[in-house]
Amino acid sequence: MNTHLGKSLAFFEGKIVPLSQAKVGIMTHALHYGTGVFEGIRGNWNDQKSSVVIFRLAEHYARLKRGCKILQIELPYSVDDLVEITVDLVKQSGLSQDVYIRPLAYKSEEKVANLKLHELESDFTLMIVPFGDYIDNDKPIRCQTSSWRRPDDSMMPTGVKLSGLYTTSILAKTEAIKAGFDEAILLNHDGSVSEGSGENIFMVEGDRITTPAETENCLLGITRDCVFKIAKNEFNYEINSRKIHRSELYLADEIFLTGTAAHITSVGHLDNRPIGRGDIGNITNKLQKKYFEIVRGNDEKYSEWYTKVKIK
Ligand SMILES: Cc1ncc(COP(=O)(O)O)c(C=O)c1O
Repeated sequence: MNTHLGKSLAFFEGKIVPLSQAKVGIMTHALHYGTGVFEGIRGNWNDQKSSVVIFRLAEHYARLKRGCKILQIELPYSVDDLVEITVDLVKQSGLSQDVYIRPLAYKSEEKVANLKLHELESDFTLMIVPFGDYIDNDKPIRCQTSSWRRPDDSMMPTGVKLSGLYTTSILAKTEAIKAGFDEAILLNHDGSVSEGSGENIFMVEGDRITTPAETENCLLGITRDCVFKIAKNEFNYEINSRKIHRSELYLADEIFLTGTAAHITSVGHLDNRPIGRGDIGNITNKLQKKYFEIVRGNDEKYSEWYTKVKIK
């Protein structure tokens, strides 16, 4: 039973504090210029094990560290240290429910007139809050091809979660929601398909599964990687990654989106056109079922993906 309510906490300036006490000044560099790099990590509540199962924690921190390298943020923590800090925060929160974990490494110096990354101080903070459903995965969603384009990696690094990059995602998501859709699909500057506002995209034709290649400016998603591995291990599907044309999406039998927050979500309609029959396709359904079992910590074959934190 989910009885313990727990607390939202932050690791801030080296200490664990209530979330409401973690504050930065208005001159903070990252606030003005988006000079931060973050992660979105899920801890999924497993009732039988009375544990929060943090999913692929080390991989999220490896990606955070790649982003730090690009932004010239020298983190004083190794991936192992970051895992340890996170486990401690989850334990201390006492949250016995699904949680969202948000690390952020950022240019913390209160100096807005300095545009030289290498001269600015950095800091690392981490937050934990309760988390409900991001997208309702039971029914297919309706997507819109965005009028906003995914920035090219030559404009802004796209393979890591740089804070400033998210302005594009937010503009695209807002446009889609205001037009009555659930999510936006962003194209690259050359018109090929990149990804959703916060998810990678896959299309299915017959039993062929295809996703935009790593060179298509999409985030190198951890759920994307899970789908490659689950498709191969469980169903013997090889996933092809390549450039995808917009019109190929309209002709696909199935489309699904993947992400830590969105899990695996079926796309029923794109630009008001039904994809396949407009319902959750066969392959999407198989992958979704297996992924949900794995992500909650219920398949020990994938135990290297789990960091289990027992909550008393
Ligand atoms: C732009 C973007 N693409 C894809 C993803 C999916 O990545 P992951 O599966 O690592 O959550 C995310 C989510 O973090 C995202 O923000």
